[in-house]
Amino acid sequence: MLVNKLRKVAVVGTGLVGSSTAFSLANQCVCEEIILIDINKERAFGEVLDISHGVEYFSSRTQIKTGEYKDCEDVDVVVITAGAPPRAGQTRLDTLEMSAKVVESIINPIMDSGFNGIFVMISNPVDIITYHVWKLSGLPRNKVIGTGTSLDSARLKSLLSEQLGVDPRSIQAYSMGEHGDSQMVPWSHVYVGGKPFSKIREENPDTYGALDLDALVLKTANLGWDVVNRKGTTYYGIASAAVGIIKSILHNEKRVIPVSTIIEGVYNQDKPIAISVPAIIGIDGVEDVVVIDMTKEEEEKFDKSAKVIRDYISKLGY
Ligand code: 2OP
Repeated sequence: MLVNKLRKVAVVGTGLVGSSTAFSLANQCVCEEIILIDINKERAFGEVLDISHGVEYFSSRTQIKTGEYKDCEDVDVVVITAGAPPRAGQTRLDTLEMSAKVVESIINPIMDSGFNGIFVMISNPVDIITYHVWKLSGLPRNKVIGTGTSLDSARLKSLLSEQLGVDPRSIQAYSMGEHGDSQMVPWSHVYVGGKPFSKIREENPDTYGALDLDALVLKTANLGWDVVNRKGTTYYGIASAAVGIIKSILHNEKRVIPVSTIIEGVYNQDKPIAISVPAIIGIDGVEDVVVIDMTKEEEEKFDKSAKVIRDYISKLGY
């Protein structure tokens, strides 16, 4: 349930990802109050000023202010963007040590404030950091969510949309597993306007039938680097995905979004792991996980991705 009547979101870290998230939250009128928290208070205040100057032109009013961890007491969602973003030539996994230290310094003071809302984790490597925050915070599984492959799924749909000439919102397709190189796509669950993609490929052997699906998955996983290599880092795409998740929580939309969530006993995972699977996102966070029947080959790819995540989780001593 919402902790208070005015929906409040705190964004921790006001770099490019945090400020884009805050701008998008305000611009889309997702909540009534946004608190920006950063060790660089001047930077956070600069973002407050800049975003609030546009409120006149938004369709409803959002109050934006700077704050501190203690202000998270009655906040509904805390978004964590702080950490080390991967740079060209790195993988997201390379940033683990630095990001883990940063979140360790953040989570305790937030929990000490009495925070009992929902964490939305963006910091990379997001699956491992989501698991770490679940453990550090002691919050129930449904209340710690990583953006995971929500963005990769959007990237996949945008690629398919270009191929098929159909609005991405009319395509159902999930990228699952690690938000990283080992992510996989259960192609047996891709639908275009309700029609199985496999059927479309069968009916159009020379065009869609000839598509190299493994190459498409690789291209999806690499799209983030296509951005990083050109502009140094990514922020609009990930901010949009995070805001989609936060909106589904605060507006109780119950939208199905692939997110990194702690699963156990499903998808062949006998021990807890944070990994992206389609989930129903509502006022209580992850309200349920959608378990889809994958083919044997898809299951193997998912297991492989889970193993990559587990290997890194164990580096944090779990
Ligand atoms: C992204 O995929 C780098 O995780 C970030 O945009």
